[in-house]
Amino acid sequence: MDNTRGRLTKDGIRIYDSADFAGMHAAGALAARILDDIAPLVFPGQSTEAIDKRITELVEESGATSATIGYKGYQHASCISVNHVVCHGIPGPKTLKDGDILNIDVTVIVDGWYGDTSRMYVAGKLPRKAERLIQVTHDSLFKGIEMVRPGNTFGDIGHAIQTYVEGHRMSVVRDFCGHGLGRVFHAPPNVLHYGRPGTGAVLEEGMFFTIEPMVNLGRPETKTLADDWTAVTRDKSLSAQFEHSVGVTANGVEIFTLSPGDKFHPTWT
Ligand code: MF3
Ligand code: CO
Ligand code: CO
Repeated sequence: MDNTRGRLTKDGIRIYDSADFAGMHAAGALAARILDDIAPLVFPGQSTEAIDKRITELVEESGATSATIGYKGYQHASCISVNHVVCHGIPGPKTLKDGDILNIDVTVIVDGWYGDTSRMYVAGKLPRKAERLIQVTHDSLFKGIEMVRPGNTFGDIGHAIQTYVEGHRMSVVRDFCGHGLGRVFHAPPNVLHYGRPGTGAVLEEGMFFTIEPMVNLGRPETKTLADDWTAVTRDKSLSAQFEHSVGVTANGVEIFTLSPGDKFHPTWT
């Protein structure tokens, strides 16, 4: 694997070249387009494995590779996390019910570059409480993204997300975080969705990473089920997540995984 581009900071974070943004843009755009294309497949009575099967086909049809099939033994092209599942839900035969909310997370590899994004969907009618959770989670991701510029720190990103979420009396999951990516899936740093301003590594132009806050209506604690993947809220409260892959530019941020059809939020159709 070619991980040797650019240089590493003292915190072990890779700094990519300006030409590398094009590779990330292509990978991110494909992942986002796939999430747009599967939106009509989310409806009551549908199984999550049927959605995943279509994602697998869309990745193959585009000539890209799924980053998750074969990753640490994972067998699917997506993670589909329904209701109180926080993340890493495994697609299966269980069917969606009216009012279920779900996160679908897709990572593709295009010419060696990784594009990682997830967003929320609803089967049928969106319940009022779930709508509030989804809106706060979505907006918290953008509070974090707004902090992305050279000279700010990863603690500034986490603090912006945490303050926003807790201000709405919801909680930020601590057990999972965002990550550096580029020519690899998961690289330094851990991008925490909570923290204190001015702490952590300083952002530099050419860093690529994800921001992917998981927000619970109840308490933040999670547990992992016996399948060793599915993470759920301990108190069974609803959980939501949105994820973008971003790059630090000279003046701010480039979001690599923007929805080409403006379908990033379940109520924007
Ligand atoms: N896409 C997830 C992330 O945001 C990782 C999924 S790994 C898998 O980092 F194996 F569960 F698919
Ligand atoms: Co990720
Ligand atoms: Co992801």
